[in-house]
Amino acid sequence: MPPARNRNPSPIPEVTWDTGSKEMNETWKGAIACLGVAVFFVMTIGIIYWQVVDQPNKNWILRGTLSGLIWERRTHSLVIQTLEEDRTFVEIDVGNVGNPDTEVPFVRNLCWLNKTEFCYTWDSVADVKISLEQREDSEAECYSMAWAPVHCHVELKSCFSMANVSWYGGAGVRGQTWPINDQDVPMQPFVVSDLRNTPSGFGSVLERYFLGSSGVAVLVPPDSPLQLGLDSRQQFCLQSRPGLERPLLQYTVCVAPHLRAAHQEAQQQLLQSSRELPSMKALWLPFWKLLTNVDSGQKVERELRTFSNRLRRHHLGEGVISLNEHSTTLLSEMDHDFLSGRKRGPSKRLTRDLPLVKLLNISITLSPFLGVDSPRFHSSLTDGTEAYWLSLPSTPQGKLIPIMSRWRGNFCVKLNLTNPGAVSWFLDRLGSLQAHLGMEYVTLEGGEGNLFEEQALRPPPALAGDKYIELLADLAARMGDSTVMTAATRSSHKPLFVRMTPLQSDWSSLGLKAVIPSLLHHTLLGYNFLIPDAVGGSLSGEPVTDEELFIRWLELAAFLPVITFKTPPWVCGEDQLLNLTRTYIWKHQKDVVPLVEKYAEEWQMTGNPIYRPMWWLSPTDPFTFTIDDQFLIGDEVLVAPVVEKGAVQRDIYLPDGGFQWQDSRSAQVFDGGTFLQDYPVPLEHVAVFFRRS
Ligand SMILES: *[C@@H]1O[C@H](CO)[C@@H](O)[C@H](O)[C@H]1NC(C)=O
Ligand SMILES: *[C@@H]1O[C@H](CO)[C@@H](O)[C@H](O)[C@H]1NC(C)=O
Ligand SMILES: *[C@@H]1O[C@H](CO)[C@@H](O)[C@H](O)[C@H]1NC(C)=O
Ligand SMILES: *[C@@H]1O[C@H](CO)[C@@H](O)[C@H](O)[C@H]1NC(C)=O
Ligand SMILES: *[C@@H]1O[C@H](CO)[C@@H](O)[C@H](O)[C@H]1NC(C)=O
Repeated sequence: MPPARNRNPSPIPEVTWDTGSKEMNETWKGAIACLGVAVFFVMTIGIIYWQVVDQPNKNWILRGTLSGLIWERRTHSLVIQTLEEDRTFVEIDVGNVGNPDTEVPFVRNLCWLNKTEFCYTWDSVADVKISLEQREDSEAECYSMAWAPVHCHVELKSCFSMANVSWYGGAGVRGQTWPINDQDVPMQPFVVSDLRNTPSGFGSVLERYFLGSSGVAVLVPPDSPLQLGLDSRQQFCLQSRPGLERPLLQYTVCVAPHLRAAHQEAQQQLLQSSRELPSMKALWLPFWKLLTNVDSGQKVERELRTFSNRLRRHHLGEGVISLNEHSTTLLSEMDHDFLSGRKRGPSKRLTRDLPLVKLLNISITLSPFLGVDSPRFHSSLTDGTEAYWLSLPSTPQGKLIPIMSRWRGNFCVKLNLTNPGAVSWFLDRLGSLQAHLGMEYVTLEGGEGNLFEEQALRPPPALAGDKYIELLADLAARMGDSTVMTAATRSSHKPLFVRMTPLQSDWSSLGLKAVIPSLLHHTLLGYNFLIPDAVGGSLSGEPVTDEELFIRWLELAAFLPVITFKTPPWVCGEDQLLNLTRTYIWKHQKDVVPLVEKYAEEWQMTGNPIYRPMWWLSPTDPFTFTIDDQFLIGDEVLVAPVVEKGAVQRDIYLPDGGFQWQDSRSAQVFDGGTFLQDYPVPLEHVAVFFRRS
């Protein structure tokens, strides 16, 4: 029998206790439960409050000596500020890592042992690694950021705010502006394209470099595919292209006390090899585009002779006559006839024509395209040199199929610049043209764009992105120091000239008003030796008829590295215009070329541009950030041309820098930091000021 349990060991009467306990329990339970709920509630609110309200919106990630990097919780952005938080250098919106609607309350450094590195993972989106570099010899501090997508569908994007910061650099666009804040360009691959075919693209000169007026430089390494978009006045965005290789989005942000220092730091980082100067002889002579539409070499030759006689008759001095690609082809084919003619014995043409061409300074135009109807292309298909042309990947039978494209209205193939045989064939062809025409200058057109991507083909790695134009610049540098490219990237250190994109013949921001922004854009990126567009603009192909436009353009062009003409002054105006043209050509040779030569040496040593924006002299004066109609040559001459129709006066800002400025015409002296309102600039003059120490 199981032992009976003592059910009632307590001396206290069960019933009484029980009853009392029961009554107490009911009340207490309620109270305790209420209290518990209340405490829990308060704690929850507390935690939420701590998380949402009380926790600082800013989260210091890295600290240097000049600046620090902050995570802004509310806006999903990285902000670089001075340590005192009194100045913001840059605000980078990285909102697309993760769902922009969910807050990332706190970012914890996963590389927490290292004070100069920061790592973080956004779940299932991206890893970021940021490292801070401080160098002893520089005032700048650089943050290198590398975003790695976690899977292949992630499109990484970083947007740099343009609020309160003027930005410069990047790529040329049609209707260049200075700064770039007002540009509006949809997100697209950041590669050099031909602006004549793709007016909304990026073109002419392009570098993966942006400079902000708060003293910030953004540099993107060359090899990863990159897309860029600009939302006018708000931000510009760098974006990776998602893909199986999961490309990183990488960039370095350098901050410095002011924007000139930031630019100089960026130049240090961008320089791959020593800077070489092109032939300075080219600056002396004006370039005259030969306007001709003839169909044979003999006729080109006759036009050349007539044109050169006209130049002589109008006392316009020596000049270089530029031939377009069509005329070049006609002339070189004439040489071909001449060569075969010589075998038959001396012809009349031999003694009469060729020496004259040789006596002129001419510039010819070539491109890496070859017509599919040309004999050379046909022979390459049979003599085993079809790899001279860009081809589709070879078929299993090993047959190469050259890719066909269009160039200037003709079906063409394009030179394979990764093929050494093709490059030497091109150089040989150039050598024989040189022997027959004796030209001093060659313009290389047609390197823009990516033939593969245009035809939705996958480019081989050696020709991805804008590598073709880079290879073409290598070829151009092998041709000598007098070659003109129509576009360029990563080649500002090579001894080449770059030709400005053609402009409209009007006063708009696609015409005369684009000249100075374009000049400043080119030289900021290191392309100082630029051949500006012809006086009066050359986009339309029609002669310029507005004489005032011609004069104002001429006055500006006289201060550029080279003067070029398409419409000759005797076509646009009367004797007075010819006289003015002579005056400004002479002024260019006497005053401007020596200055350019002087500052070319400085550029070679320091990388400082020859032509400088106003902020170069007072980089902390916000007034200078948006001046787009004045420029400096070196730091001693300030040029302020008139770019408004009908104006005979303009506003001029003389930057401060602790010195005075003297008007070259009236010899009047002004203090730096002066704003001259409605300063008189008569039609036949340009406002030019010399710096006085
Ligand atoms: C921090 O990281 C940098 C860059 O990776 C490295 O050079 C440095 O030695 C690291 N420092 C420490 C204390 O780990
Ligand atoms: C721009 O600057 C003004 C004045 O300094 C300031 O009030 C404003 O908040 C700034 N805007 C941004 C987006 O930083
Ligand atoms: C012009 O041509 C002549 C003769 O070919 C040559 O000696 C001279 O150097 C050329 N000048 C320039 C600036 O190219
Ligand atoms: C260019 O030429 C090289 C060398 O012959 C060859 O390997 C390559 O496939 C060619 N590239 C293209 C795109 O045709
Ligand atoms: C040409 O210009 C010069 C200097 O500006 C001037 O002295 C001369 O009278 C002008 N000649 C003509 C024909 O206008």
